[in-house]
Amino acid sequence: MSSKGNATGSRVTLHVVSSLDGFIARKDNSVSWLHANGSIYEAGVSISEEEAAIFVKAIDCYVLGSRTYEHALELGWPYGDTPTVVVTGRKLPSTRKSVEFCSGDLKTLLDEKLAPRYRNIWLVGGAMLCQRFLELGLVDEIRLTIAPVLLGDGLRLFGGSLTEERWNLKNVVAYKNGFVELSYSATG
Ligand SMILES: NC(=O)c1ccc[n+]([C@@H]2O[C@H](COP(=O)([O-])OP(=O)(O)OC[C@H]3O[C@@H](n4cnc5c(N)ncnc54)[C@H](OP(=O)(O)O)[C@@H]3O)[C@@H](O)[C@H]2O)c1
Repeated sequence: MSSKGNATGSRVTLHVVSSLDGFIARKDNSVSWLHANGSIYEAGVSISEEEAAIFVKAIDCYVLGSRTYEHALELGWPYGDTPTVVVTGRKLPSTRKSVEFCSGDLKTLLDEKLAPRYRNIWLVGGAMLCQRFLELGLVDEIRLTIAPVLLGDGLRLFGGSLTEERWNLKNVVAYKNGFVELSYSATG
């Protein structure tokens, strides 16, 4: 169950990919560095397409900020037909059946709209929306994937002011492509 936000059995997992120096996008928003090939880390694991598909199927809903949404439309939609909630105060044109636009207080959105409908909720960016979810104590798990690259500049992961809070390390997976996934659960 969400350890902080609600009592419906739903969980919010924040997932982002960061560079080694803590950026989630270049200044011009580009994320091509996510796909750059480096050397193979022999001791790492790789996952098959089937395994990835099974994993993604278990996600009930994606939540994203409007800027991430607009960027995803430009780059190629990565969320398939999974229900996707875009947080925005603007009136954006509807693009896909699976997309719903929401605004207003994030805790109310989670408690009244998302948690009753979805169990496995994935908050997938961007920095601004993730920051707000963390500030409000609405995240149960952080999955931080570190890409093996220094960017030097860009959009900071968790750039605002967060208060000190300890998280529990739950899992570490190192992949053959040099990416490392760190999973933490909230202590609350
Ligand atoms: N590396 C990764 O894993 C990763 C993941 C996701 C995104 N990204 C990158 O991150 C960039 C976008 O991130 P971003 O931080 O600029 O924007 P964002 O978090 O995607 O979107 C911010 C927008 O969300 C809306 N919003 C509504 N209520 C909000 C609230 N309470 N708190 C915060 N936002 C609220 C606002 O939209 P309105 O102005 O429409 O009201 C705000 O401008 C893109 O370049 C994307 O490619 C990287």
